[in-house]
Amino acid sequence: PEDATPEATPPADAPSPQGVATTWPPTSYRLSIRPMNVQMLPGAATPMVGFAGRFPGPTLRAERGIPTVVTQANDWTENVTIHNHGHKVSAESDGHPVDYIQPGRYKNYYYPNDQRAGTFWYHDHTMDLTGAHVYAGLAGFYIIHDKAEDVLNLPSGSYDVPLLLQDRTFGDNNELIYNGNPHGWGGPTPVINGTANPVLNVAARKYRLRLLNGCNARTLNLHFAVQGKPVPFQLIASDGGLLEAPVPMKAITVTPGERYDVVMDFTNFPVNTVMDLLNVDDPEIDPLLPAMMQFKVNRTEVDSATVPPKLSVIDRLQEKDAKAFGTVELGLSADGETWTLNGTTYDPARIDIRSKRDTVTIWTLKNATAFTHPFHKHLVQFTILDINGQPPPPELAGWKDTVGVPGNGTMRIIFKNEQFSGTYVLHCHRLEHEDHRMMIQESVEP
Ligand code: C2O
Ligand code: CU
Repeated sequence: PEDATPEATPPADAPSPQGVATTWPPTSYRLSIRPMNVQMLPGAATPMVGFAGRFPGPTLRAERGIPTVVTQANDWTENVTIHNHGHKVSAESDGHPVDYIQPGRYKNYYYPNDQRAGTFWYHDHTMDLTGAHVYAGLAGFYIIHDKAEDVLNLPSGSYDVPLLLQDRTFGDNNELIYNGNPHGWGGPTPVINGTANPVLNVAARKYRLRLLNGCNARTLNLHFAVQGKPVPFQLIASDGGLLEAPVPMKAITVTPGERYDVVMDFTNFPVNTVMDLLNVDDPEIDPLLPAMMQFKVNRTEVDSATVPPKLSVIDRLQEKDAKAFGTVELGLSADGETWTLNGTTYDPARIDIRSKRDTVTIWTLKNATAFTHPFHKHLVQFTILDINGQPPPPELAGWKDTVGVPGNGTMRIIFKNEQFSGTYVLHCHRLEHEDHRMMIQESVEP
């Protein structure tokens, strides 16, 4: 995806810094949400809806501590609301499901960028229609950089590649087919950064690949392989930024909404080597999506990037400091028809959980169903204390905002809602579950 170009001046009606000590003026962007045709397959272009006529939307880049104002102009025919996934933001700028931007109107979203460097993404969050809107094209990367990360000399610039991983079903005329049934929707065709079945040319050196599962419903179990032989990689970051240390891995599970940054080293592969990024679905998933994309080594290059043995410090909240406790039960109604959270479905007029700002809080996520659900909480990054009583594996030991809660499993997360109060949602990130209202509301109170 291409980077967005900032506007020369912030909009005259940009929101004020809202009491947060911060740099001013912000960097500003203006994106028009509108229908477009995207050439994804040979033959007819595919009608979609996107940000600034692009799919994925332009990549928004921010430097920690320098705020951003994004003006989203709705030049489409449906209500939208835009959420910046993983950001610590005020409730007004969080893209609440009924905080609609009506057709012909616009909204200025204010992002403080007062958080660690990491891979985030902005996407539509309209009540009952998030799945349809994201599937139609309303998703893009939002990347925060910071000095602590810059000095590490990780692969950067054109060697730092965000990959929006999605699946789609196409009709006879290359149009997108979508059915928002409560089980979830996807398709047999991988679409990566808006290209079906892509091949990315790479140099024989290290790359940072920012893997984002932007599928509506499919969990990806990813690995790399050359001629069927698995190639290991290093995991360096999860949703909320860098891990403490790189983790050598052979495969990584990414549920919808999650991000993992990996470093793949192509150094020892001769020119013309083709590496596959492959996916192993659970056998009951239909249709299967066995191959995501390919990398082709097309040149040699000197590589001065490094992956240092120590990446970051994770300032963990301690269980002994917890002052508040809650439970979120992921369930299914007795008739097997309705996904629920705490036995209920979303009502924007109802507060389901009240929590105190600036308070160390532990929630127990109890999955009473047989399926993994990607649980997502807005406003803060959390860490995982334990999963079924066991410490989390290294890939789940860093900052997270979305996590697959295993079927019939229990997970405890610890977090502190900071800085902002107001109404935020928490929900399943299988978008068809969310749209069938597997979502509740938290009121964060000062
Ligand atoms: Cu990525 Cu509440 O969403
Ligand atoms: Cu779910």
